[in-house]
Amino acid sequence: MVFENLLWEITEDILTITINRADKLNALNSATILDIKKAFEEARKIEQLKGVIITGAGEKAFVAGADIAEFKELNIQQAKTLAQRGHDIFFYIEHMPVPVIAVVNGFALGGGCELSMACHMRIATANAKFGQPEVNLGIIAGYGGTQRLIQYIGKAKALELHLTADIIDAATALQLGLVNYVEVDKTAALDKAKSILQKISTKGPVAVAKVIECTNAYFKEGVDGFAYEVNAFAELFHTEDVKEGVAAFLEKRKPAFKGK
Ligand code: COA
Repeated sequence: MVFENLLWEITEDILTITINRADKLNALNSATILDIKKAFEEARKIEQLKGVIITGAGEKAFVAGADIAEFKELNIQQAKTLAQRGHDIFFYIEHMPVPVIAVVNGFALGGGCELSMACHMRIATANAKFGQPEVNLGIIAGYGGTQRLIQYIGKAKALELHLTADIIDAATALQLGLVNYVEVDKTAALDKAKSILQKISTKGPVAVAKVIECTNAYFKEGVDGFAYEVNAFAELFHTEDVKEGVAAFLEKRKPAFKGK
């Protein structure tokens, strides 16, 4: 795959997407955000994909935000279009049927923090920094940050971060529940992400996708998550995987799931 600002690599059925604009701390300009959209759309078409890792090029940043230079001349309609486009892409990531892990290797500010929060898990390097500093620019988060940060760290701390523009380190992000793990450096964080994806790949793939769906259902307005779970649980009994999983347990062997 060829992209303007992304690197794309598949190893052992794990896709690693690297946002490759290190000279601008991987800020999300229009070309980059469209690259991300295309990358995840392509990822969905890959059979046997175990999961996706998204990270930033260089040692300093995951993503230092939306590209502030592009905000200079925006009118109301263009701002709305820009925010909606970001929402749609991040929603698409959040609803991927395979797990998506952000390896946050430095600054994850504004749109960078929001991108990481659209992923199913976050593994930070020890030098990672998180924040929603948009009020410094007289704006607010526009890629879902006001909604998703609450989901991870609760209202009090989410409001504090959005209102003060404070930037927190990886240890604090771990303590608040924003990240799953902190690793010493990017190599260790990538290894951790890969080992989690390998572990998940041994489980029933349809069940994995349903866990993601049901978890997302909790946050969907007008959706009864419990009812959603009942239906999802029942639907799994149409799959060959449930027969295989149950049989393998009873026969004291490892299951060979087919993902159907
Ligand atoms: N949009 C556009 N360009 C950005 C950017 C962003 N969000 N974040 C960093 N850059 C660019 C800088 O303009 C600079 O470009 P230049 O070399 O052409 O001048 C380059 O990336 C390096 O950034 P710099 O500010 O020199 O690095 P630093 O180590 O001094 O500071 C940060 C790092 C992250 C603290 C600082 O870049 C920053 O505050 N960025 C904006 C964060 C933000 O507000 N994000 C939310 C946006 S809505």
